[in-house]
Amino acid sequence: MKKIKVLSIFGTRPEAIKMCPLIKKLEQCDEIENLVCVTGQHRQMLDQVLDIFSIRPDYDLNLMKDRQTLTTITTSVLSALETLLKQASPDLVLVHGDTTTSSAAALAAFYQQIPVGHVEAGLRTYDIYSPFPEEMNRKIISQIAELFFAPTVKNRQNLERENIRKNVFVTGNTVIDAFQYTIKENYRYKNEALRLLTFEKKRYILMTAHRRENLGIPLANICRSVLRLVQDHSDVEVIYPVHLNPAVRETVFQIMGDEPRIHLIDPIDVEDMHNIMSKSYLVMTDSGGLQEEGPHFGIPVVVLRTETERPEAVEAGTVVVSGTEENAIYNTVSELLNDQERYSEMAHAVNPYGDGHASERIVREILTWSKTQGLK
Ligand code: UD1
Ligand code: UDP
Repeated sequence: MKKIKVLSIFGTRPEAIKMCPLIKKLEQCDEIENLVCVTGQHRQMLDQVLDIFSIRPDYDLNLMKDRQTLTTITTSVLSALETLLKQASPDLVLVHGDTTTSSAAALAAFYQQIPVGHVEAGLRTYDIYSPFPEEMNRKIISQIAELFFAPTVKNRQNLERENIRKNVFVTGNTVIDAFQYTIKENYRYKNEALRLLTFEKKRYILMTAHRRENLGIPLANICRSVLRLVQDHSDVEVIYPVHLNPAVRETVFQIMGDEPRIHLIDPIDVEDMHNIMSKSYLVMTDSGGLQEEGPHFGIPVVVLRTETERPEAVEAGTVVVSGTEENAIYNTVSELLNDQERYSEMAHAVNPYGDGHASERIVREILTWSKTQGLK
């Protein structure tokens, strides 16, 4: 039997977290030859995820540079994939979401006339500079892709508005599938700082912030507001696994580095992350993924941005967008810390992002599509 050759290409932490559950299902499918290429846009933060899922890539472009630019990532991915795609000659390339690895890999596949499947398709803010460059990255991929795996109905509607109607499948988000691998009872944290936390006595805020459009003044505003929040609430502590980007670390350590109730730690692996999130009081983040994960656990999420491409949980009432002004963030979070009724309103589990079976649906649609292409 001839197998369909599927090459998944990804390069950053969030892509890996959301692609690994799918790769596990592709691996298990007899009709598919499963190949994995990592670009290494991230290095340590990517490898942490690959280790957890025990995935050994077939190809590793290893291209991360310190303080890399959008141009260097794009050009390195494009040129490295030209030869690789010619040699590997897959029937389908899968890319995920909105990173520069993903848009460049989709373009590289297009140049070889290889069909592209887009996992996590159809998210939009309609502002090409926010998030930057992700909104444009996902629009570019939408123009190239042949198969669209949309997490939600809203995502499919966004694609319809752009006249993309063929081969669009609502699957749920594979991030919810990832919990099957990461959440464990009586979990023992690998990071020592997490083992020392005292949940009976404190309220822990889990925070992350790294977005390019927040670097500089917005990130400084975020840090100052968090510092004030901790100083004004003696039972509150913050756990912040700080992204390895030096532009993030400089600002964060300078403003918050001396406050003992703010735990600035290195990025934690996704098992530690999901388990600590499930125990936190609330989440403050500018990340995309955390906006999907918090609602699953019923943990309120404050989004440190001016917009979101994930309105589903905002509408369900578990996520609130605070903007990036110091006072606005301070007031939004203070209300959640001081007003129990407001907190309870937000702290309920909802699952607009899926039921944990997105990966199976994606594999099924790939198989159905391959038959229409005469690949089998
Ligand atoms: C990238 C994605 C962003 C995603 C984020 C997830 C683009 C343009 N941006 O942004 O969409 O939300 O990943 O985290 O694709 N670094 C390390 N080790 C690592 C990872 C990063 O040292 O494992 C440092 C390097 O100095 C690197 C810098 O961080 O140059 C920035 O990494 P980069 O991938 O360019 O940007 P992110 O902000 O991580
Ligand atoms: N995450 C992690 N360790 C950390 C911080 C985040 O495993 O120290 C996970 C988080 O749970 C989510 C994903 O990384 O699944 C989000 O990635 P990131 O914030 O880097 O990117 P974004 O979602 O903004 O694209």
